[in-house]
Amino acid sequence: MKNLRNYEIVNKKVLFRADLNVPVLDKVITDSSRILAIKSSIKDLILNQNKIFIIAHFGRPKGEVLKKYSLKFILSPLREMLGIDKIHFLENLQQDKISKKFNDMQYGEVCLVENIRFQKNEEKIDLNFAKNVSSLFDVYVNDAFSASHRNHTSIIGFAKYIPAVAGNHLIQEIKKIDSFLENSKKPNMAIVGGSKISTKIKLLNNLVKQFNCIVIGGAMANTFLLANNIDVGKSLVEKDLVEEAKNIQIKANQYNCTIVLPTDVVCGKSIEDKKPFEFSINEITSDFMILDLGKKTTETINQKIKKSRMVLWNGPVGAFEYKPYDKATSTIAIYIKENAKKFNISTLAGGGDTISSIKNANAEDGFDYISNAGGAFLEWLEGNQSPGVIAIKENNFI
Ligand code: 3PG
Repeated sequence: MKNLRNYEIVNKKVLFRADLNVPVLDKVITDSSRILAIKSSIKDLILNQNKIFIIAHFGRPKGEVLKKYSLKFILSPLREMLGIDKIHFLENLQQDKISKKFNDMQYGEVCLVENIRFQKNEEKIDLNFAKNVSSLFDVYVNDAFSASHRNHTSIIGFAKYIPAVAGNHLIQEIKKIDSFLENSKKPNMAIVGGSKISTKIKLLNNLVKQFNCIVIGGAMANTFLLANNIDVGKSLVEKDLVEEAKNIQIKANQYNCTIVLPTDVVCGKSIEDKKPFEFSINEITSDFMILDLGKKTTETINQKIKKSRMVLWNGPVGAFEYKPYDKATSTIAIYIKENAKKFNISTLAGGGDTISSIKNANAEDGFDYISNAGGAFLEWLEGNQSPGVIAIKENNFI
């Protein structure tokens, strides 16, 4: 695959796809890893005196120009984190505006383009638009692994008309995730959490074939508990997926994969309830909802981690945004950190909420690699090549 190490880009006009869809709370960026992720590629391109147009999305404005989704707020952190004094800004990708901007820019300068999802022709692929825009550029670089699972114009369209090259971060993501999966050390375990089993069915069906043990946590565990005839009170469940949960368990059995479900849980009367109650799994009363794993289950997970040689983690195991229901998730992050070095365990984590949980617990150094991708990480684990990666691989412009 063409990348910045094997494809020379010097004095060129570069269309650069980044993922600047950073998490923001009360107007503050809570995690900057997606900005830092593009630093290496941008530095290379600046060093080689290119004119670089960064295109990125923020949120899901669905083709509308909405102020709250403007990317202007990111200009200053972008300047600071990339170590660049000046970044130009462009409102949209109209051809005359791009040409004018090129005239204002020196080689070695960067321009950020406003949220690409303000344009109707982003999410609905518009090859005409892609062709017209790319005719003004020499090369397209995709450094947005975390958005590469989307079939959008800025991910697959431009690559049809000009040379397409992978950025340093995209290459790193693929290498790290693939090498984790390829160098499988047994016994291995996966911890899969999050609220919905519906988003992880394919992943679970895939993991049962490759992993000795899968811990299921988060609200998605409730559907599994229900499938085992456990009364989960007023917990969040996906009733229509009870059969699917049963099938996953049957399949796990066939592949000798142990599914670990909660044996005790922390409940509240609502997600805002600050008075948690601990229940053994068979004792949950109808006015309570499961919001976190209990101590016994967390300790079982710890013992499983210690016996594993590889641990994969995606998704918090409790309602971690609502204290005190973040406890099991943080404890597991710390257990992984404590055990990884001691027992030489390979560790990989990914997904927005998982990253926040690991950071909250100060447990980053317990992981060999933390992917900054969410959906793209999951799809890659499911064995699907992202459309954005395929577009680069299939690109044969020199
Ligand atoms: C992400 O945050 O996972 C990526 O930026 C993709 O965003 P999307 O789910 O809105 O397409």
